[in-house]
Amino acid sequence: MSQLTFTLNDGNKIPFLAFGTGTSHFKQDVTEPASLAIEKGFTHLDCAQVYQNEDTLGAAIKASGKPRESFFVTTKLSSALEPGDTVSDALRKSLTRLGLDHVDLYLIHGPRVSFKDNLKETWKGMEEAKRAGLAKSIGISNSGAPEIEEILSVAEIVPAVNQIEFHPYFLSVHGTTYELNKKHGILTAAYSGLAPLHKAKGGPLSPIIDQLVETLSKRAGKPVSPAQVLGKWHQAKGNVLVSTSSKAERLEEYIAIPTLPDLTEAEVKLIDDIGRTHFFHLYVGILPV
Ligand SMILES: NC(=O)c1ccc[n+]([C@@H]2O[C@H](COP(=O)([O-])OP(=O)(O)OC[C@H]3O[C@@H](n4cnc5c(N)ncnc54)[C@H](OP(=O)(O)O)[C@@H]3O)[C@@H](O)[C@H]2O)c1
Repeated sequence: MSQLTFTLNDGNKIPFLAFGTGTSHFKQDVTEPASLAIEKGFTHLDCAQVYQNEDTLGAAIKASGKPRESFFVTTKLSSALEPGDTVSDALRKSLTRLGLDHVDLYLIHGPRVSFKDNLKETWKGMEEAKRAGLAKSIGISNSGAPEIEEILSVAEIVPAVNQIEFHPYFLSVHGTTYELNKKHGILTAAYSGLAPLHKAKGGPLSPIIDQLVETLSKRAGKPVSPAQVLGKWHQAKGNVLVSTSSKAERLEEYIAIPTLPDLTEAEVKLIDDIGRTHFFHLYVGILPV
């Protein structure tokens, strides 16, 4: 199945759906779950230095037998640089673990956590890593207005992506981060994007999602799931959706999202309006509130 892609501000393409190797796979061997995701059609694989599984993600990529160009691999600079290391040195270590000669996207993982005192220099290092061909695109994660503005004050290359927690229950506070990303041509990648369906279950969106499940199922002529409805909301927002699962059925459900009929503007607005009435934040302290 060919993947829906968005075009980044540097001209590179990024697949809409990503399979993540953090959260439930954190510090776990991901050879099996990542192989399953690849088998189910995921090409965008999201990893990080701190997940401590770049090596087994690399093993799954290799075992697939598919050419390197068929994958979009993201990893993240999570920890402060080791003494004497540049950003490129840290990325080379990740690449060795992944068994690759470049990543498609390299992100600063936690600017407020590990790079508070040297964010500008770290961004300059990210730019060097891109110029050296070690990363095709570079970006940030967990960044609000202060981090974005600090980076932009020195950037020759504007971040291509800002990967943040993002779902309708985030709009009341972080709708502005999404808008700021958009203003600067930075694509929002949403992690925990399906949280309203499980981690924040039973909120005010529940009846609306149920209603849209019915509407969209009729429009599609086949059953549509709540995750697919929320996935269509992310697609309409132009977000990359970074999710994960160890279950074949859920991976199949997610990968089918782009093939389903789109939500109308009114339906997207309905989700926005109800989402704004309730705030839920999973990763407290990572993004400013
Ligand atoms: N940049 C960052 O700081 C950051 C932070 C967090 C996450 N991430 C990335 O984003 C990826 C996804 O994050 P996420 O796990 O928070 O995404 P998510 O899409 O919100 O949640 C996926 C998880 O929810 C479970 N799940 C799905 N549907 C469910 C249901 N109906 N009932 C109960 N559980 C259900 C899945 O388990 P099953 O295996 O049972 O399907 C899976 O573990 C991570 O792996 C990582 O790559 C990045």
